[in-house]
Amino acid sequence: MESVDETRWRFERDGFVVLADLVPGERCDELRRHVGGLVSTVDPDEHRSVFTTNEQTRTSDDYFLASGDRISYFWEDEAIDADGALIAPANRAINKLGHAMHDLDPVFDAFSRAPEIAAIPAALGMRHPVLLQSMYIFKAPGIGGEVVLHQDATFLRTDPPSVMGLWFALEDADRTNGCLWAVPGGHRGGVRRFFRRAESGGTEFVGDDTPLDSTGEIPLEVTKGTVIAIHGCLPHRSDANRSDRSREAYTLHLVEADRPYPADNWLQRPTLPLRGF
Ligand code: FE2
Repeated sequence: MESVDETRWRFERDGFVVLADLVPGERCDELRRHVGGLVSTVDPDEHRSVFTTNEQTRTSDDYFLASGDRISYFWEDEAIDADGALIAPANRAINKLGHAMHDLDPVFDAFSRAPEIAAIPAALGMRHPVLLQSMYIFKAPGIGGEVVLHQDATFLRTDPPSVMGLWFALEDADRTNGCLWAVPGGHRGGVRRFFRRAESGGTEFVGDDTPLDSTGEIPLEVTKGTVIAIHGCLPHRSDANRSDRSREAYTLHLVEADRPYPADNWLQRPTLPLRGF
């Protein structure tokens, strides 16, 4: 078994580390069943309405910008037709839930703050991690969309960057159903681009918009129960899921409590103070 020092060394070298068999399979199944229950009670008409106005971009921006201290529902692009109607069942049409599941949902609160989870950022060098953001990602068979190459530090900013992602495979993930891809060592170049609230409303990117270099990227094919810890500056992405198998995952993003958090970060939590483990 690898020592904590070796794991941290690999994390610092590669910008990620794959921790297999960290979550028991039954626990993954429990989380999936719990989310299945949440989704089965969602009122698609209510949530769909955000896509049905003529000001589609503005209202979906508002919905997104208000989701930092909520559990909001985001649909797959391909699941919404030109009139804003869902063309797939809700459990297939959902892209993700976010972004405060770890604070508002008792099941995900307990899961996210378990001692074995808290031990990961501690082992990888975080000093005072707080749980900033969480998402449940469906990546449904046939419809789950791609996530283009990005760095989490673009979106979840502290100054200087401190975000770490924990990506939990609740099902096996491989190239056919949209596993993560990452560029080993790509975190060492830092982050050059930021996503923020624009003064005029909505959001904008600022900084260097040169595309991230994908040279040397590798697929991170993992089995159910694996956790991948991701440095905030690591370029990573995932393909669309064109297989007939789902690829559900839960993600948690941590930041250092003492790093300044810009007021124009897209993610604001006016009703929820940040908490650690
Ligand atoms: Fe990411």
